[in-house]
Amino acid sequence: MEKPEYAVEMKGIYKSFEGVHALTDVQLSVRPGEIHALMGENGAGKSTLIKVLSGAHQADAGEIFIKGEKVDIKNTKDGNDNGVSVIYQEFALVPHLSVAENIFIDEFGFQIKRINWIRLHRRAKEALEAVGFGDIDPRTPVRELSVAYQQVVEICKALTRNAEILVLDEPTAVLTNKEVDKLFALILDLKKSGVAIIYISHRLEEIFRISDRITVFKDGKYVDTVNTADMQPKSLVSMMIGRDLASFFPQRTESKFGDVVLKVENVSAGRMVQDVSFELRAGEVLGLSGLVGAGRTETIRAILGVDKMERGKVSLYGKEIRLKSAKDAFDRGIGFLPEDRKNQGVLLRMPIKYNITLSSIKKISAFFGWLLQKAETVFALDMQEKVGIKTDNLQHNVNSLSGGNQQKVAIARILASDSTILILDEPTRGVDVGAKMEIFKLVNELVYQNYAILMISSEMIEIIGMCDRAVVFREGKSVGVVNKADMTEETLIHYAMGI
Ligand SMILES: Nc1ncnc2c1ncn2[C@@H]1O[C@H](COP(=O)(O)OP(=O)(O)OP(=O)(O)O)[C@@H](O)[C@H]1O
Ligand SMILES: [Mg+2]
Repeated sequence: MEKPEYAVEMKGIYKSFEGVHALTDVQLSVRPGEIHALMGENGAGKSTLIKVLSGAHQADAGEIFIKGEKVDIKNTKDGNDNGVSVIYQEFALVPHLSVAENIFIDEFGFQIKRINWIRLHRRAKEALEAVGFGDIDPRTPVRELSVAYQQVVEICKALTRNAEILVLDEPTAVLTNKEVDKLFALILDLKKSGVAIIYISHRLEEIFRISDRITVFKDGKYVDTVNTADMQPKSLVSMMIGRDLASFFPQRTESKFGDVVLKVENVSAGRMVQDVSFELRAGEVLGLSGLVGAGRTETIRAILGVDKMERGKVSLYGKEIRLKSAKDAFDRGIGFLPEDRKNQGVLLRMPIKYNITLSSIKKISAFFGWLLQKAETVFALDMQEKVGIKTDNLQHNVNSLSGGNQQKVAIARILASDSTILILDEPTRGVDVGAKMEIFKLVNELVYQNYAILMISSEMIEIIGMCDRAVVFREGKSVGVVNKADMTEETLIHYAMGI
């Protein structure tokens, strides 16, 4: 028999959620041994299509063919049985279970037979070593891992299933260069062995580096499928957002730095934070750069008092303080956008509007007094437009939004807050290119108003494009400060790798 051309074909797929047309007559065809990128703005329908393929969602209409045969995928078991394995955008790990238990969770199922723990841990260790993360202990509960390491566990879990169709929904959002390189090497191996790979990412460099073909969606509709080699980043962006984008990083025309607002001296906390010092001034964007695991998030957590600070001094407007929690920091005018939005950044089961205005009630009531309700709506609508949250109803709960739009709610909330010092941990993770630019514009506006912004980003290009200065971290230490004039990838890598 002749081999079918496509490992998977989806045709005429429709899916609605309570009147929201997430997918309208959408198609996708992926060849064996092909890396096929799926692109489109936040809310375009990418994750929804993947969930239809994996059986997590049921399509309202449409057909799916696997290796040329029509299949009926009614649930995730059907998906698995058809060789579909997905690394989801929102992690699907069980936090209190160990790394090993999470990787092999499907094997537990309903079986009553005794588990051979020694063997399980050995297999988990092998799986972790295969992806280059042998340093993760299979016995650790997943909730104790950093977000990046949780992602590694997700990847291992998908890979141990020997999938024929592997879907990665923004797998690198929490990884940096070194980890991305490892992941890509792995993906290329799978490609060689004939696995069909569907790759979703908002990072253009990645798409151009790794994909063979690209399918673009817009507003739940199929736009086109193209060969990556025939595309330019610019033309791809305009295909996605339907217009040209002048530049990803809006330039500030003038910078006026004020006093030091936050001073961090010799802070140490655990193994990950050792003797960190830096100063944040009003009217500047200060970047924290470095590899994943360099201690940036941990430093912030220690400063805010979320984790215990063992040594060191933190001063706010020249006065020494000891913060007790993110709430305490907030009460003193320091807003914090945490790395882990799902658990800390938004209230998923509350309306979008409530989430946006939550941190800025003071501002609204002071301005509008008795008009509170209405003012809140106007205010929320304004923020929605500014960061581009895609929804037709702000009363809907946050968990009805696409992944990237949930991020935008967290960002809107923090940018709208009354705080004048903002700490943003990976603010643009999972956000599409058009919206990224809007968020950076907003950051610039705040800087003009003398806000002080501390921004962690694993994307060097963002640090270079947005920051006035950058503190580089390596192995838990702040190893250098780079000024705007000297900020290039080379200098940042130079410090981050210690060469
Ligand atoms: N469970 C749900 N309930 C209601 N609406 C939903 C649900 N899941 C998705 N939607 C809607 O379907 C549309 C497509 O969402 P989807 O998550 O597929 O987008 P996406 O392309 O993956 O975006 P992102 O880049 O932000 O991850 C959005 O308008 C979203 O609000
Ligand atoms: Mg998505």
